[in-house]
Amino acid sequence: MTTIRQLAVESLTHLMAGGQERLAVDDDARSILRDWMLQARRGVQPAAAVAPSAAPEMTVEEKLTLLRRRAENWKPALRLGTLRSTMVFATGNPHARLMLVGEAPGYDEERLGEPFVGRAGQLLNKILTAMGLSRDEVYISNVCKFRPDMGPEQGTANRPPTAEEVAACLPLILAEIRAIRPACIVCLGGSSAKALLSSESSVSSMRGRWLECQGVPVRVTYHPSYLLRNEALSARRSVWEDMLAAMEKLGMPISERQKRYFLPA
Ligand code: URA
Repeated sequence: MTTIRQLAVESLTHLMAGGQERLAVDDDARSILRDWMLQARRGVQPAAAVAPSAAPEMTVEEKLTLLRRRAENWKPALRLGTLRSTMVFATGNPHARLMLVGEAPGYDEERLGEPFVGRAGQLLNKILTAMGLSRDEVYISNVCKFRPDMGPEQGTANRPPTAEEVAACLPLILAEIRAIRPACIVCLGGSSAKALLSSESSVSSMRGRWLECQGVPVRVTYHPSYLLRNEALSARRSVWEDMLAAMEKLGMPISERQKRYFLPA
């Protein structure tokens, strides 16, 4: 089996053969290369170092740790100068079958370093409970990893990320999806749906059918903060129907009672 280490050595050898003597690498790559060099000095042969029993591939946890480290100092986003500098990554289970993707951290999320911990997050927790799930069983992330900046008077106010801010962070969430390979994704709100589905459509026109991002089935629904602003039963039912569709996709049991939630009496 060809390993990442062998591929890296091959491509570095190729560059050296072409006369290249220097290469810019980031901190993560530097630390991996240093480990390989130390192993080589200790006489650990590549084949032994990467034999299946010796973790030939990174685990999901390792991939997420690397991504989180990379995101901390994510230049494409930070150099825009319109996002705050505290990175809020993701929460939940790296082996989750359901991944929920929101838009960006707000005041509470930035303060606590975790997505969806404010009012919208509390509502999301209730929705998950109604589905028979907890936060620990799903993976919750955002398309934009930094709280959008509103200047020195911002206080607790939040604003949605711009398309440019979302685009700058997009490689991170796409890498999370590739690492986790969930059975399905629910996009919470337009920012997330537009980014993951490369679409300009509205949430209402993207809802109600299965779409796809990197081969993973995607369902689009309204953001929980929309439900905080719009308490109409019909809005809650719409979100609930999207969650029922996700439950069905995941093969979860759905009770008669759950089927009837938020239907008019
Ligand atoms: N809204 C989001 O989209 N994400 C959060 O993390 C919090 C609120």
